[in-house]
Amino acid sequence: LNFLVPATRKEILEILINGLKRMEYRGYDSAGLAIEGNTKDSDPQVIKQTGKVAALEQEITVTPNLDMEQEFSVHAGIAHTRWATHGEPSCLNCHPHRSDPKAEFLLVHNGIITNYKDIKNFLAKHGRDCESETDTEVIAKLMKHVYDTTKAKNHSFREIVELTVQQLEGAFAVAVISRHFPGEIVATRRGSPLVVGLKSQSKLTTDHIPVLYSKAASTTFAEDQRGLLTAPSPRPDGDDLTEYHAIGPHREVEYFFASDASAIIEHTNKVIFLEDDDVASIKDGSLTIHRIHRNVEDSTIREVITLKMEIQQIMKGNYSSFMQKEIFEQPESVVNTMRGRVNFDNNQVILGGIKDYIHEIRRCRRLLFIACGTSYHSAVATRQLLEEMTELPVMVELASDFLDRSTPIFRDDVCFFISQSGETADTLMALRYCKKRGALIVGITNVVGSSISRDSHCGVHINAGPEIGVASTKAYTSQFISLVMFGLMFCEDRISMQERRREIIQGLKNMPEQINEVLKIDDQIHALAQELYQQKSLLVMGRGYNYATCLEGALKIKELTYMHSEGILAGELKHGPLALVDKAMPVLMMVTRDKVFAKCMNALQQVKARHGEPILICNTGDTETEAQTEKFISVPPSIDCLQGILSIIPMQLLSLHIAELRKLDVDCPRNLAKSVTVE
Ligand code: G6P
Repeated sequence: LNFLVPATRKEILEILINGLKRMEYRGYDSAGLAIEGNTKDSDPQVIKQTGKVAALEQEITVTPNLDMEQEFSVHAGIAHTRWATHGEPSCLNCHPHRSDPKAEFLLVHNGIITNYKDIKNFLAKHGRDCESETDTEVIAKLMKHVYDTTKAKNHSFREIVELTVQQLEGAFAVAVISRHFPGEIVATRRGSPLVVGLKSQSKLTTDHIPVLYSKAASTTFAEDQRGLLTAPSPRPDGDDLTEYHAIGPHREVEYFFASDASAIIEHTNKVIFLEDDDVASIKDGSLTIHRIHRNVEDSTIREVITLKMEIQQIMKGNYSSFMQKEIFEQPESVVNTMRGRVNFDNNQVILGGIKDYIHEIRRCRRLLFIACGTSYHSAVATRQLLEEMTELPVMVELASDFLDRSTPIFRDDVCFFISQSGETADTLMALRYCKKRGALIVGITNVVGSSISRDSHCGVHINAGPEIGVASTKAYTSQFISLVMFGLMFCEDRISMQERRREIIQGLKNMPEQINEVLKIDDQIHALAQELYQQKSLLVMGRGYNYATCLEGALKIKELTYMHSEGILAGELKHGPLALVDKAMPVLMMVTRDKVFAKCMNALQQVKARHGEPILICNTGDTETEAQTEKFISVPPSIDCLQGILSIIPMQLLSLHIAELRKLDVDCPRNLAKSVTVE
């Protein structure tokens, strides 16, 4: 950081804590921060606490000697909120990690270092033992090792970081501070996202900054360590090595690093998304970006991008939770997804991010939809429609399983990657796997500038607005609509499809109003939640277009309420799940007026014959179905393939109410994270 006007320590801590609160959706089992000492020689302060960021905030108030009123015009601080992968949530495992008891280097890390055991062994041989169980600590320790063993070379902070990260395998975004380099921060990434925020009082004097290619700092690692640690490759000849003060004269810009722009949006909407292996350093009020390796196709600049995100979008307002806010935003978020894309007057659908590739897509061998969690369910929900509209084989895959199977991929495949965050590690790895094999990559994401949207050849931003609640709601309905729009665009020239296209487009037009109708029955769903919240289990059954609603509904129930819940394909009922049914087992069944209505009725009879008493989700006005049971929830009828957008909303509300009745944290369910950036 570099302040436009001097900031007190109190203000600096507030910036860090507020940033962490915005990042909490990434993980919230422990949090920590590090700030520089009061003077050049004084020790840095490291404050950590298990639990949510609020607990860390509380810890600050009881930390002695913070000297809250002291002012700084340049000050480097780092902070982190954790989702445990290696080692339980504890203060020892929590970031920032230190290189040694004097904390000469302190760093925060997002990602996983896959060769950390090798590095740990290497460090142990040099008498540098780790204190935590994490993979992250080895980075800090290795950095000190580099610093100590190359002292004679007078490396800059940036060079030390470069030398260190070249030894790392896996995925990382790290930010480092050091007592040897006060007022400086170096940050770098590979595989995990990292954004730089720039806040200027006047207009920024530039809209991009050049990338500098560094001379590789020399090292003795190769002979030292029998090949474990290798010397960096030499820089390509002929590059300009002049240090360049990329942005403005000193002190005119305040700088922020974050894993996600939402952490810094309250300060600035001007950002630079760093690329893999960029090493960004802030020193004397200037930002520079260096790289060691240069590929010919690499861009030599990093653009300053102006984000459209508004701070209000990531505030809760009058809602009890972000999840509730996001459920109730759906009438508008679906409009935003369709805005400028669906023309209801002439039945045209144009997805600007795909249109240049549509001919290529039409010629493909098959379509693959790859995702995790809720995003995967949006592909299950639209698969039948996409098969109908494209007449192509459509495969729907969970990213982790797709990778485990090393699924064959061909150059004439088109692979869609659906991800709200655009950062989910499994999905991203699957993307890279398919890209390497020459397939066309289409990204469907909610976060502009996310890794998946940047790594795709083309794609759709679903424009649902920031989603903060860990359990995905509005992103699901917007992903659903985006995939429907793709299907409609694909077959726009097919005469035989025109009638069907027209009815679907009409269905889309009615959607916002119909979602509003469903939201009006919130009280009724609350009453149902009161009946169900002490149950241990809830089975959700349906088939056809509604199968995805069952899977997604059951996922919402389990992630929010910790109740056991299963989405069951009604066609499979007799092959096992029926054994679970008795008078006591709570069952929810989707029975809407579509092609499989009669089959759903059969399933309903089978459940009733075993003394089950299902609660139905059926269409408003369908008295015949309502008469089948005492309890039902009615949702307005839509076109068969769009019905799932309406029938998921009662499930979202039900899980929200059950979680609240159970007094659980709706936005941050235990053990989960919104964006899972590790495999
Ligand atoms: C996590 C979240 C889920 C989400 C899934 C995929 O598990 O808790 O809500 O559906 O990741 O996330 P993505 O950002 O790729 O859609």
